[in-house]
Amino acid sequence: MVLTEAVSRFLRATGPEHTDVQAEMAAFADEHDFPNIGPESGAVLRLLARLADADTVFEFGSGFGYSASWFLRGGAERVILTEFDAEELDQGREFMCEAGLANRCVFEEGDAMDTVGRYDGPFDVVLVDHQKERYTDAFDAVREKVAPGGVVAADNVMRGPIDFDALLAHAEGDEDSGGALASANDQTRGIADYLDAVRDDPDFETAVLPVGSGLAVSTKAD
Ligand SMILES: C[S@@+](CC[C@H](N)C(=O)[O-])C[C@H]1O[C@@H](n2cnc3c(N)ncnc32)[C@H](O)[C@@H]1O
Repeated sequence: MVLTEAVSRFLRATGPEHTDVQAEMAAFADEHDFPNIGPESGAVLRLLARLADADTVFEFGSGFGYSASWFLRGGAERVILTEFDAEELDQGREFMCEAGLANRCVFEEGDAMDTVGRYDGPFDVVLVDHQKERYTDAFDAVREKVAPGGVVAADNVMRGPIDFDALLAHAEGDEDSGGALASANDQTRGIADYLDAVRDDPDFETAVLPVGSGLAVSTKAD
């Protein structure tokens, strides 16, 4: 486990409470075993939206709107939700209507990688939370569209459908990491590639936060 149980509980206990609709979303996720970003990372999304004074947020992979609800709580004027599962997106629409937030949401059904091509930006915050092996493509698609001072956050860089030990070996430059990564799954290689891409990009400054499943936060220098 990346975070000890006590640290996780502490973050939960000191973090924000769910709104009524977020509590419904969380219960729905539990019921359907759906991997949303969770309240600890949600609190960070709220913080990012607030610090970036976000006008527009773009999400790759929105599910039924749980992560978007945190950006909206952080004052984002508009969140573009993308989802290729129509039922999930409909459920998101229902939750956002119930919360009185639907007028600040754009619901885009289909492949997020196609959807992003229809937007010029600027994006103040971007969340990358779709197929792990396409994270780098998502970064390539938005890097020019992120506003100066804007942020790209990517979930699951430490936990999820990935091999953390292989990622650690790669990050530490372990000679065997090529082997460890080569035998890891596509998702792990996708995350490793993404972290290399954002860390190597001279226009972005990246820090990994060990909250929830691990968030890589990359800010675009002015
Ligand atoms: C891990 S869930 C994240 C949900 C959301 N960000 C949250 O935390 O509440 C990933 C979601 O992305 C969707 N997804 C994966 N690849 C996608 C793609 N290329 N385009 C649109 N949606 C995608 C999946 O159907 C799933 O609902």
